Amino acid sequence: MSFDLLAPHYRWMEFILAGEKLQRCRRAFLSEIPAARNILLVGEGHGRSLVECRNRFPNAQITCVDASEPMLAQARRQLLRHNMATACVRFIHADVLNWTPTGGDYDLVITHFFLDCFRADQLEQIIARLGAVTTPDGNWLLADFQTPAAGWKRIRGRLILWTLYAFFRATTRLPARRLTAPNSYLERAGFTRHRHTEAEWGLLHSAIGGSGKEARGKRRWKMTLTLALISPSLEPSRKMELSGSKKKRHSQRAVPLSRRSQAVFLLTDSAREGG
Ligand SMILES: C[S@@+](CC[C@H](N)C(=O)[O-])C[C@H]1O[C@@H](n2cnc3c(N)ncnc32)[C@H](O)[C@@H]1O
Repeated sequence: MSFDLLAPHYRWMEFILAGEKLQRCRRAFLSEIPAARNILLVGEGHGRSLVECRNRFPNAQITCVDASEPMLAQARRQLLRHNMATACVRFIHADVLNWTPTGGDYDLVITHFFLDCFRADQLEQIIARLGAVTTPDGNWLLADFQTPAAGWKRIRGRLILWTLYAFFRATTRLPARRLTAPNSYLERAGFTRHRHTEAEWGLLHSAIGGSGKEARGKRRWKMTLTLALISPSLEPSRKMELSGSKKKRHSQRAVPLSRRSQAVFLLTDSAREGG
């Protein structure tokens, strides 16, 4: 697969076919990421997400991986056009299927309109590989196409997707023949979808997911605290044993009954939300 031929035309083609719709999807949850120090942009293409990231996190280290050198050149030019320094950005020309991630653990992974390029077996491999180099509290931002759920929206969506795949297969030798939803692979890699939004009658979507490594830790933490509040009579040593690595945060004080039941309700509820 190569996007080299398309690289100089990608921006105006996107503008003609979709206006600012794709860019709105790329931007969707970026403002909700509290802080990011080490960002990985995979299949970044022409650099529009890179500029948004640079704006949002001016001090972050950013790694941009793309298999197309002309696409990386476009991304570099985008930064310069916006008077942004390229010093904190590493541009890596590599096929992500063969790339061994370097540069430490990433607290934000961004794959916009990229995962749709791959077959299911490749998706599984890529997502597992990227998931393995994210921090325990890392986030994954994703904007992409999806097949609308039902009715005329589904028929319309499938027609558009069929046309897009035929075009990209002819011009880039895309390995995928059809769209594979990445959700189950992301879940398997430990990511939980926190928020999701749709556009264009369900054809476009954006999602923000958190690494399950942290989510699992939080769930255990919440369960422990809930247990400790329900059973204030539990021996302190047993409570410490239950609380595991988060020992210091747990109060050993007994809580009056009314406050106690309120706290248990809130915790159980937020645990459900998080899980
Ligand atoms: C459909 S474009 C998406 C570009 C951009 N992320 C966007 O939001 O529009 C897919 C990009 O992924 C890159 N790409 C495709 N296969 C790749 C691979 N195996 N490894 C790294 N980059 C790849 C292409 O060169 C291209 O820039």
